Amino acid sequence: MKHLLKLLDLGSEEIIGILDLADQLKYERKNHIPHPHLAGKSIGLIFQKSSTRTRVSFETGIYQLGGQPLFLSSKDLQIGRGEPVQDTARVLSRYLDGIMIRTFEQKEVEDLAKYGSIPIINGLTDFCHPCQVLADLMTIREHYAKLEGLKLAYIGDGNNMTNSLIVGCLKTGMKISVACPEGYRPDPVVLDFAKGNPGFELTDDPKQAVRDADVVYTDTWASMGQEAEKEARIKAFAGYQVNAELMQLAKEGAMVQHCLPAYRGQEITDEVFEAHADELFEEAENRLHAQKAVMVTLMK
Ligand code: CP
Ligand code: NVA
Repeated sequence: MKHLLKLLDLGSEEIIGILDLADQLKYERKNHIPHPHLAGKSIGLIFQKSSTRTRVSFETGIYQLGGQPLFLSSKDLQIGRGEPVQDTARVLSRYLDGIMIRTFEQKEVEDLAKYGSIPIINGLTDFCHPCQVLADLMTIREHYAKLEGLKLAYIGDGNNMTNSLIVGCLKTGMKISVACPEGYRPDPVVLDFAKGNPGFELTDDPKQAVRDADVVYTDTWASMGQEAEKEARIKAFAGYQVNAELMQLAKEGAMVQHCLPAYRGQEITDEVFEAHADELFEEAENRLHAQKAVMVTLMK
């Protein structure tokens, strides 16, 4: 494994390997056992969109591994003034040991990997959010002590999260049922990947999707870059809220996951959010451990 550009590129064993290492690093962190696997190494963190979790977990994560982060806002980089990604990739490859990038187009991330000579990590694009789903799988596996055979129901916008969840679940033996309205479906490339897999279901009925679900997952109805569509989206997603009534139809004791930030009263009620706060913040914490595992795997 040379990069983490999207989960479609990874084998099941590579995903499980990252989760196992993440569990170990979490154990070591909790028990104050130092693990300076990346001593002396630097990672550049390029952000073209806002972030709380991704930025802070990568910055503290590399520090805990003995390395150094460089926060690079694309507003301040020459890339923001039109320097081509091909040139940026070749320059940064000479200073750094790895790059994490959060941007709009998946092609930009793939181009960094193509032209650079150091590991590239996708910290979210419009197409996918692999780091988040690795943390999600880690959290689900901690909770149920397995992944194989569990069912995840995703309710809402067929966005970057949905794309990565479909791939991550199916590659680890989970079932996934996605409920989203017509016109807001996951990417055709991902639907093609899932086609014919008996563990995959796509519906426009949230009630059908959550039936027998072990995990209920949702995300914002308006992702970064879609702010102008917010009002139209609130209308389109009426009926796709994760609320107490919908949770009644999932398996008893089902977990709730959300990548955050959450918009209470829209995709999830305050009541459901607070009832599952422990699971949601464990999930947020696991970003740290999962990404440390990704950095060690790629940069050691
Ligand atoms: N879930 C997630 O990626 O959060 P941030 O946008 O805060 O990084
Ligand atoms: N779908 C959301 C995820 C945020 C972590 C977005 O892209 O804004």
